[in-house]
Amino acid sequence: VAAEKDGYPHFMLKEIHEQPTALRNTLKDRIIGDTVDLDNMNITADYLKDIKNISIVACGTAYNAGLVGKELIEGLLRIPVEVSVASEFRYRNPLVDDKTLVIVVSQSGETADTLAALRESKRRGSKVLAITNVKGSSVAREADFIFQTIAGPEIAVASTKAYSTMLLGFYLITLYFGQLLGKEMPKELYSGLKELPILADKIIIETEKQIESLIKPFEGWGDSFFIGRGLDWHVAEEGSLKLKEISYIHAEAYAAGELKHGTLALIEKDIPVIALATQKDVYEKTVSNIKEVKAREGYVIALAQEGDTEIGKSVDQVLAIPKVPSLLTPILTVLPLQIISYYVATSRGCDVDKPRNLAKSVTVE
Ligand code: G6P
Repeated sequence: VAAEKDGYPHFMLKEIHEQPTALRNTLKDRIIGDTVDLDNMNITADYLKDIKNISIVACGTAYNAGLVGKELIEGLLRIPVEVSVASEFRYRNPLVDDKTLVIVVSQSGETADTLAALRESKRRGSKVLAITNVKGSSVAREADFIFQTIAGPEIAVASTKAYSTMLLGFYLITLYFGQLLGKEMPKELYSGLKELPILADKIIIETEKQIESLIKPFEGWGDSFFIGRGLDWHVAEEGSLKLKEISYIHAEAYAAGELKHGTLALIEKDIPVIALATQKDVYEKTVSNIKEVKAREGYVIALAQEGDTEIGKSVDQVLAIPKVPSLLTPILTVLPLQIISYYVATSRGCDVDKPRNLAKSVTVE
């Protein structure tokens, strides 16, 4: 087994480092110039034009990927999207029918709740697009359309490369749908996506260089916060899930502007807060939320775009994310969050590949 880890102490760390390659493989042959080619998905423009809404259904990390997917699809395609936790979906008479495209997201393709949601959607007349990492999985076999992520086998219970490639899947699917629907898609996204593998490599190296100072603030704490707005908030959700799963530190992800409606009461001196501030449109607002945390003496680590010379004045530490269009940041910002979680957990002696009470694939409902 040691050999399969390629010299890494844990599968999770190996898989974190495999992300540039996983992204490259998932992109391969799917962007040609300014065009996304997913023709082998066999979705037709006629079918898409007839769709009234999209419903994304998933569990855990895949659900968090769906939150980003919703923003992309609604933002670029203006099609209404709902995101549901699969274990809830079936039991609340979901609003899906033959005018709904249901997108199920599942690394393993075997999660019982997700599979049940897929079947329920089909029973109601919806077509199902599966984003999955496992060829021939149950979800892949039963879906009408498939987008396969090419992350390679993911062994660690805490998902890393599956998440980033699921996100990539959502970008490619959104751009492809845009093309089919004859909508103008932002050109910079095509070139930006192609650059992500190299930038991912860069941010992984940069984060590990600074890791001592990034994990120090968590020492001795049983609580922490992750805040951000828009896409940053959704990545904060995934960052907090990672930390909880493997380090057992309670982590609360919050929309930065919502803090003042309650959670701010929990901010105390030196409590670790990771603040994502990469979204241009809401940047000033996010900084003012960060200041609210600093006023209560929380310890703030900010993830900000490279070249941001302002943020350093308001926080305790800054980690610079390579400059990309705001819409593309999630694939990069999640990487330091995974790495921080990993090193916080190992510094506490946690078995990160096999966290207590959790399973890689949950095949019971
Ligand atoms: C389990 C794993 C999570 C994963 C979730 C969904 O709970 O521990 O890491 O996100 O299942 O798995 P799936 O294979 O459907 O993406």
